[in-house]
Amino acid sequence: MSRATSARYLLRPAQRVQGELSVPGDKSISHRALMLGGIAEGRSDIDGFLASEDCLATLSALRALGVRIERPSETRVQVYGAGSEGLRAAALALDMGNAGTAIRLFMGLLAGQRFDSALVGDASLMRRPMERVAQPLRAMGARIQTHEGRPPVQIRGGSALHAIDYTMPMASAQVKSALLLAALFAQGRSSVTEPAPTRDHTERMLGSFGVALVRDAARVSLEGGARLQACHIEVPGDFSSAAFFIVAGCLAASAGLTLRGVGVNPTRTGLLELLRLMGADIRVEPRAGAAEGAEPIADIHVRAAALQGIRVPEHLVPLAIDEFPVFFIAAAAARGQTLVTGAAELRVKESDRLAVMAEGLRSLGVECELLADGLRIQGGTLRGGRIDSHGDHRIAMAFAIASLIAHESIEIEDVANVATSFPGFPALARSVGLALQEQP
Ligand code: S3P
Repeated sequence: MSRATSARYLLRPAQRVQGELSVPGDKSISHRALMLGGIAEGRSDIDGFLASEDCLATLSALRALGVRIERPSETRVQVYGAGSEGLRAAALALDMGNAGTAIRLFMGLLAGQRFDSALVGDASLMRRPMERVAQPLRAMGARIQTHEGRPPVQIRGGSALHAIDYTMPMASAQVKSALLLAALFAQGRSSVTEPAPTRDHTERMLGSFGVALVRDAARVSLEGGARLQACHIEVPGDFSSAAFFIVAGCLAASAGLTLRGVGVNPTRTGLLELLRLMGADIRVEPRAGAAEGAEPIADIHVRAAALQGIRVPEHLVPLAIDEFPVFFIAAAAARGQTLVTGAAELRVKESDRLAVMAEGLRSLGVECELLADGLRIQGGTLRGGRIDSHGDHRIAMAFAIASLIAHESIEIEDVANVATSFPGFPALARSVGLALQEQP
């Protein structure tokens, strides 16, 4: 997938956001809806699909594996499930682009197929660790090779998978989900235990596709050989995209900012707890009528408040894992010090988010200390400056929000990857008051 690395944002200081907005569909849920729909029996309809580069990589990969998929509109997708034995070998290596979720979940999905597969991605993905999934899959009998722990990933087909009872060494929803997908094709009952709660979209959605799944505290189990029945999936707004505007509201919505139709699955909303600990004024208004097991949806109302630095409780880290770039901006705006530890996973995201955020904050004059597993940030004033996002979508968007508290303009380099998760971010940001200009 090619992209222009030169694209940049120029942000003039803006002191105020207000109004109402809806963010695009959830990325994690969109990937999963395509994949489960692809191996189900019958046609699954997905509404609110996130048409971002990451999810379109999953969509193209499934088509290459023989799944018929139609898109009557940008956000409506019809997946004609191939059934549990209906996937076919792809002619070429599957290109996952920037998408960690796609590559790791496909490893699980493809490990138990009869045919060989190869998975590759962009420069960032080719640097990310894959053994966390490959190792337990090998323990299930899969034949998988990585290149020194990273992509390309080569999967040899025709292995009969057996069940696994696995305790994950790290809190990772991608590892958990990959193993649950592989477990569908394994013989016997598999279990995965997580060291701390992580997003449970795969478990919820497997339930919607008719798979009987048992959760016992931190352990989730399922029986191999289940047949998935097509269903209708309504994708809520992505909490991780909403997060940028939630923080924007905390910093600068003196008249209030409302976000409509946001997914508020409690395994995703750790940021709300963190911001409330800092003194934020956030009201969550749940939408009634969600079916049992389905994803909860709410409208979120935010008003500006004076934030106070905090020590981040480590148990909240996995529940806010993708929100740290923008949380660090909130910390930079707060009075006093904020300390985050237990967040080493941030070093293996689309970029090393601890190092890249520390570098960016320092170039705006914020005092911060980079720790092995976290950051210490001294809140204060921000000047302007030039930020290198290192091609990381969430870093780029986080520093766009910083323009609400900066005294001079901020220029953010290498922003094309915002399209991997949040197409339309610049226009939406402008619609609530940010002074954001895109430059080629
Ligand atoms: C995701 C899980 C998280 C998250 C990623 C999406 C998912 O990764 O950071 O953006 O969809 O399962 P880890 O499982 O590596 O923590």
